[in-house]
Amino acid sequence: MNAKVNITNRAGASFPVRRMNFDFDAVPEYWMKGDAGLTHFMTALSALFPAGEKFFIDSVRAVRKHPAIANDEALQKEISAFIGQEAMHTQEHVGFNASAQKYGHDVDTLDCYTDKVIQGTRKFMAILGKPVGITQEMVDLTATTALEHFTATIASQLLTNTHIQELMTDETMKNMWMWHAIEENEHKAVAYDVFEGVFGKGLKSYALRTSSLVIAMVTLLIVQSYFLARLLKQDNQLNLDSLKSIYTYAYSPSKGVITGMGKEMLMYFKPGFHPNDLDTNSLLEKWKAKLGL
Ligand SMILES: [Fe+2]
Ligand SMILES: [Fe+2]
Repeated sequence: MNAKVNITNRAGASFPVRRMNFDFDAVPEYWMKGDAGLTHFMTALSALFPAGEKFFIDSVRAVRKHPAIANDEALQKEISAFIGQEAMHTQEHVGFNASAQKYGHDVDTLDCYTDKVIQGTRKFMAILGKPVGITQEMVDLTATTALEHFTATIASQLLTNTHIQELMTDETMKNMWMWHAIEENEHKAVAYDVFEGVFGKGLKSYALRTSSLVIAMVTLLIVQSYFLARLLKQDNQLNLDSLKSIYTYAYSPSKGVITGMGKEMLMYFKPGFHPNDLDTNSLLEKWKAKLGL
């Protein structure tokens, strides 16, 4: 693997933290099998991660000393490892984003936009929620929980959808996305367990987490689509060929990664849902062996 892997588990959690240090220097401009449309689709996703994952870390950190979970030693270990994994994801996506920027694709601006959208939306939602007793901590944590369900679901698609895997012809990028996908599934229950630990399992929590998922998904779809259109336009690649491959591999019923997420995404609306209801252990074992992790 084109990376210097260092695996630690200082927290003693159920999953480790892996420092990857990928070398993105030799990643080609259109690393998705030479396809500009799909490469920009993935770059538009990658642009969301540095600010997005910092938000996840901050949201969980803000409530980890809450009396309801402060003495839950097992959960505290999981939180530490969750923070460690997300921090490593940010580091690697910053590295890849810089390599896309090197080719003239303006990911830096998109990274700033992501932060502005997150900060603007979270503050606005806290103002809306205040009259019904919803605090800023609740807004942040429930958004994190919803977005973690999204990342775990798109991650399991990346690990199972062979159509998209066949397009990842650059080994470094394939390893980076698959490592991230493995870890999103390893820690998928952490933010959820913190949310339930702090805010309980009642009707109010259910209403909060499900409405958050809808708001988070609409926002994400708009922002990622705007980023994609911007990257394509700046690169003079906003054409039928690009749109056709994006449709086929992201949104078509037979091959699409996003359409393939539908059933798993909807499980979040089930009362009593828990992320571990979706057992991805054997899938993770297979991919960890493939990546030598
Ligand atoms: Fe992540
Ligand atoms: Fe995550």
